Amino acid sequence: MTANKWFLSFLKKYKWKMALGLLLTTLISVLAIVNPYISGLIVDNVIIGGEFSLLPKLIITLLAVTAVRGILRFYYQVIFETCSQGVLYEMRDKVYRKLLQEDFAFYNKKRTGDLMSRQTGDMDAIRHFVAYVIYSVYENILLFGFALIMIFTVDVKLALCMLAVLPFTALTTYLQSKAVKPAFQRNRNCFSSLNAFVQENVSGNRVVKAFAKEEFEISKFNKENDAFRASQLDASKVWMKYLPIFEMLSNLLTIILMLYGGYMVIQEKISMGNLVTVNGYLWMLTVPLRMAGWWVNDIQRFTTSVEKIYDTYIEEPNVKSPQSGIDRKHFDGKVEFRNVSYRADDEEIVNDINFTVPPGQTVGIIGSTGAGKSTIMNLLCRFYDATGGEVLVDGINVKDLDLYDLRDNIGMAMQDVFLFSDTIEGNIAYAKPDCPFEEVKQAAIMADANHFIQSLPDGYDTIVGERGVGLSGGQKQRISLARALLKDPAILILDDTTSAVDMETESYIQEQLKKIEKDCTIFIIAYRISSIRDADLILVMDNGRIIERGTHDELVAMNGYYASAFRNQYGEIPEEVKGGASHGTK
Ligand SMILES: Nc1ncnc2c1ncn2[C@@H]1O[C@H](COP(=O)(O)OP(=O)(O)OP(=O)(O)O)[C@@H](O)[C@H]1O
Ligand SMILES: [Mg+2]
Repeated sequence: MTANKWFLSFLKKYKWKMALGLLLTTLISVLAIVNPYISGLIVDNVIIGGEFSLLPKLIITLLAVTAVRGILRFYYQVIFETCSQGVLYEMRDKVYRKLLQEDFAFYNKKRTGDLMSRQTGDMDAIRHFVAYVIYSVYENILLFGFALIMIFTVDVKLALCMLAVLPFTALTTYLQSKAVKPAFQRNRNCFSSLNAFVQENVSGNRVVKAFAKEEFEISKFNKENDAFRASQLDASKVWMKYLPIFEMLSNLLTIILMLYGGYMVIQEKISMGNLVTVNGYLWMLTVPLRMAGWWVNDIQRFTTSVEKIYDTYIEEPNVKSPQSGIDRKHFDGKVEFRNVSYRADDEEIVNDINFTVPPGQTVGIIGSTGAGKSTIMNLLCRFYDATGGEVLVDGINVKDLDLYDLRDNIGMAMQDVFLFSDTIEGNIAYAKPDCPFEEVKQAAIMADANHFIQSLPDGYDTIVGERGVGLSGGQKQRISLARALLKDPAILILDDTTSAVDMETESYIQEQLKKIEKDCTIFIIAYRISSIRDADLILVMDNGRIIERGTHDELVAMNGYYASAFRNQYGEIPEEVKGGASHGTK
């Protein structure tokens, strides 16, 4: 499918409405020929011929035609506006749904501001096209055609003279449309880029302030702003070059009429009334010629926007739900990685990952930064697909499971906490918006968030700003944990979730997690040994591989990476721990 066909598929639904609109437009155009004709009759029969009795009838017809045209114009404009809003509504909806289906890889490389301009500026170019350009071009082509026909009926030679202008107009239109297209494409790109820049700077405003980089950002913004202005001016330079030509061609018609028409009246080849009639048709020829340049602009803006939206729309996510995925609403929570590897951009991210976790066990994952800890959890949730080996949940390859069932069974508190600009209750109840407040509170209690939430002036109704502005790092982490817990998932993933909370809070949360431990497989990614020391299995990762595995005691006894991390965090290892006997080290 091409971009234009895709656009037409939206228009299809409105074809009868559009047809009615075009029919009304045709009627209006036909009626446009009546008034100049009557004006001619008034000159020839009333003013020159002296038949004054005809005047009232002719005047009433003039007024009636004008009134009917006004009413019809109102109706067809409403029709086209309604169609444009309908098309836009469906297109926005479809594009938005597709955006939600896109995977992490898509969002990694796209700029938010860029995607936003698809939904705003580009959509508006389409609305303008459907609401205005379609009928306007159609009406003016009809007016032009009808006017020519009427002039032909008055005098063929005069009509032919006026027609001679047409090839020049066609050529100018073609040349302008060719010249303006690249300028418009550049213009749309600059608009997106400016949008993306502003969006990033507004979101990252705190970093800009912290580094006192306002001046630097302003100079960067000026560059974007200059580029956008230059691209606008480039486009306007094109039409500045061509508009005078359109203007000249339309004035040429008036000159032809005045010179040749006047000459014919003097020669008595046509009547004065005929000249008035043709003069009345003149606007029907000149307006389309004058407007041609603008339509070229509008049409190019429209096609560029459709292409841009369509290009985003057709990007298929790599991670998709299988056609007939295995239906499994409730998981036991067994997780198995078999020789799993993941490569991205020709770079090995994780390799040779093997482990099995029976339902209800807790796994701790520890390791250096960038070791691949979050990546293996991303593979489990199918945010990315493993490039080698198999990730299995309850013995089934995750690729064969319905994607939404899989994710429905996983509760994840992500490393990069994101909160919506909503109430705290709304954020916690994100997975279960209709659940009773008691459940929300219970989840908050488990995440040790209830206390601080209640101390806020609006409690659970406190609106947290965009991305949770106004909350501390640890508070955000606890809300994110409560959100994951409320899901009551079969698999719970806590990626660095307690890194910003104090030790006391962490041990409280650990106690709470013990309550759900038997019904839930828990993965805890952490740097602090204290976060994972009680886990049934600890995986130590480095450089994309599991380098050590076992329980806390086994790993300490191994005297490798884990033991040295333990020593760094706790000082020297007491003798009894070296022996693998105790958990009591402080
Ligand atoms: N989709 C991706 N495309 C390219 N590189 C990626 C991708 N995902 C992860 N990486 C890279 O893989 C490495 C491991 O990333 P990962 O986020 O898994 O580390 P981590 O162990 O969670 O680190 P941290 O403890 O700092 O959170 C990093 O170097 C990261 O840049
Ligand atoms: Mg990580």
